[in-house]
Amino acid sequence: MHVKKLCLVDCVDKQFSLLYFISSRAILTVLYITYLLREFYILEKVLVAGGAGYIGSHVQKQLLDEGFKVIVYDDLSSGDIVNVLPGAEFIQANILDKDKLNNVMKDGVDAVIHLAAKKAVGESMVNPSLYAENNISGSINILNAMVENQVKYIVFSSSAAVYGMPQYCPIDEKHPINPINYYGYTKLAIEDNMRWFSQLGKLNYAALRYFNAVGYDADGAIRGKERNPQNLMPIIMEAATGKREKLSIFGNDYDTPDGTCVRDYVHVSDLAKAHTLALKYLMNKNTSFAVNLGTGRGTSVQEIVDATEKVIGKKLNYDFAPRRPGDPAKLTANADLAHQLLGWSPQYTNIEEIIQTVWNLEI
Ligand SMILES: NC(=O)c1ccc[n+]([C@@H]2O[C@H](COP(=O)([O-])OP(=O)(O)OC[C@H]3O[C@@H](n4cnc5c(N)ncnc54)[C@H](O)[C@@H]3O)[C@@H](O)[C@H]2O)c1
Repeated sequence: MHVKKLCLVDCVDKQFSLLYFISSRAILTVLYITYLLREFYILEKVLVAGGAGYIGSHVQKQLLDEGFKVIVYDDLSSGDIVNVLPGAEFIQANILDKDKLNNVMKDGVDAVIHLAAKKAVGESMVNPSLYAENNISGSINILNAMVENQVKYIVFSSSAAVYGMPQYCPIDEKHPINPINYYGYTKLAIEDNMRWFSQLGKLNYAALRYFNAVGYDADGAIRGKERNPQNLMPIIMEAATGKREKLSIFGNDYDTPDGTCVRDYVHVSDLAKAHTLALKYLMNKNTSFAVNLGTGRGTSVQEIVDATEKVIGKKLNYDFAPRRPGDPAKLTANADLAHQLLGWSPQYTNIEEIIQTVWNLEI
């Protein structure tokens, strides 16, 4: 009888240890699978400063498509409320508002994508204080709020303007850094601050040095057009739709095949994709970096005009004006590093296809 009881206890014990063994294994397996799948099922909350702007809205779309939670933080100074997509939370506020930034980050933000800036080169030379305050002080507020709330990752919209006059083309990241306008300097100052914060162990950053952003979402999800555009493509569209009497091409005597300036036009959806790749890289590798984002191909202003005429099926009204001071003949990117680190390569390679995505907004 005693032996039988002992056997029973022993048996129950064995079953319990077997159950314990299986369930602990199951928990470990689930944890391991979750760890492996984290790349595919991320639900991190990302604060997108400047998310209602031209590039920010495309970044927003890419984040939502990939399953991130998105908070758009924008004062709408140049952005548009129609660019806030369904599924994104919207906070209308200025990055100069330190308390607001702190309160939003306190609520649990995992990463920041920072695009909020003034970006008119000419204006930055006339009113540097405005750019110092908005771009540099605003960015330092973001960094401070991140440190205060242990937000570890920031992807920042930098610019090819940090390089200044090209000493060689295509420009890689080893090219000397020497901005020739105050706007470019603000980007450099912000990169310097991020580097210091990173060296001091406070956060990790990705500085994405965009070349010329162009195009619109091919699905037509982004409808808000740029206000007071300074860039070539929106100005061409204004000329094409009669909102502007004519287009002026600055300089046709440069040392380029057709005499007009050559630039590296990269589609905005390709740029947007680089942001989520950069974010995942930061989260997985815990390191900081700066990379160029461009196609490596140069297209002249004249080629853009000719391609636009083909796409829209009519002639554009344009003339040639004198060169603008500080405009280099050619500016193209070497984006090999973005490819090596992030696996990023631009999908849009045909300029007419790119222009079509812009024209779709007008027809
Ligand atoms: N467009 C380009 O070709 C290009 C090239 C290189 C770098 N960049 C950089 O990319 C970023 C986005 O540029 P974009 O072309 O989308 O410009 P944009 O003007 O369309 O977007 C900027 C957004 O930031 C917001 N913003 C500005 N100041 C703010 C502030 N103080 N507080 C809160 N929100 C503020 C604006 O309302 C706007 O929605 C900028 O930082 C710009 O310098 C753009």
